[in-house]
Amino acid sequence: MGKMQMIKLAQPNISERAIKKVVEVLKSGNLVQGKYVEEFQQRLENYIGVRNAVVVSSGTAALHLALLALNLKKGDEVIVPAFTFPATANVVELVGAKPVFVDINLSDFCIDTSKIEEVITKRTKAIMPVHEFGQAAKMDDIVKITNHYNLKIVEDAACALGSEFNNQKVGTFGEFGCFSFHPRKAITTGEGGVVVTNDDILAKEIRVLRNHGIQNIDGRMDFSHAGLNYRMTDFQAALGLTQLQDIDQDITVRIDLANQYNMLLSDIEWIDIPSFFEDRKMVYQTYHILVGHKLNRDDLLLHLKENGIQANYGAQALNCIQFYMEKYNLTEKSYPKATHAYYKGVALPIGRHVSLEDVSFIVSEIDKISVLERN
Ligand SMILES: Cc1ncc(COP(=O)(O)O)c(C=O)c1O
Repeated sequence: MGKMQMIKLAQPNISERAIKKVVEVLKSGNLVQGKYVEEFQQRLENYIGVRNAVVVSSGTAALHLALLALNLKKGDEVIVPAFTFPATANVVELVGAKPVFVDINLSDFCIDTSKIEEVITKRTKAIMPVHEFGQAAKMDDIVKITNHYNLKIVEDAACALGSEFNNQKVGTFGEFGCFSFHPRKAITTGEGGVVVTNDDILAKEIRVLRNHGIQNIDGRMDFSHAGLNYRMTDFQAALGLTQLQDIDQDITVRIDLANQYNMLLSDIEWIDIPSFFEDRKMVYQTYHILVGHKLNRDDLLLHLKENGIQANYGAQALNCIQFYMEKYNLTEKSYPKATHAYYKGVALPIGRHVSLEDVSFIVSEIDKISVLERN
């Protein structure tokens, strides 16, 4: 019997054109940050609609640099949603500040903006909304709150290149937007990321911190900061900029697949499909559903795996992972919606490698488990 073909959760879309370009750069011998990094940055600035894009070695590096450039110190507090990939909070810890968690909405899986003001103190310096799964957080509320309390915004848009709120691309609402180019994301450079900002002074700070703290001072090279090496290589940038040309078609493919999932899954009463919001453009970086109370999510994941479908949970409830539980004395009850999404969420395959027929097959397998579980 032949090996069953697995429908993967995600698969990077690397064209022959992209491979050719990368080989060209490799053959040139110019491997570190150079002209392709410059060009990639310009194309990202145009696409996102922002004055400065500074590409870096990962989404985490982007977030780390953003917080360093804001000069966050020990004792400062940063508001973070309780449901995200832990990197969002980890960088807050790494600059010596304290992440203060806020529960999410189960409709958009983003920070519940009605709960933000409850946790603001004299020490609060910034809010890091996460555009989870490619859905924009409620940025109108966040901008209002940060204006009122004089706080900074660092958008964790790791999964949300192309997402919009009120026709404005995410990443552009505050001081910084940070994106990831990990292979699960809209475009990939293997590892990689970008910090975007409309503030030229902050952009300069990010560029210096990215490159060991090097600055040209009075015509000579000096080290003005204790910086890092978070640069992207030129062959990665060549890969990224080739992929950026196809991003809007990729998003359309994802939206079509998501619509098909929504239509077929809406007949299964124990599944909650993603909500639709008039004021947002969702790019479906991840197609994420919630399973009903009675059903064991892990049984569903196993059943899908046994039938050649790769699925997984969507993101972590930070109150349920060891480091934050222990450090801040958190429990599953601390942020009930984050906990619920962590234990009941399922990310299903989406992307160019998935066909409409695959979606029908996946939904029919999901439907089968309700019969199996009842028996
Ligand atoms: C919300 C969020 N923030 C940050 C990151 C970190 O990005 P990277 O893996 O590029 O460091 C990820 C990536 O998985 C993410 O999903």
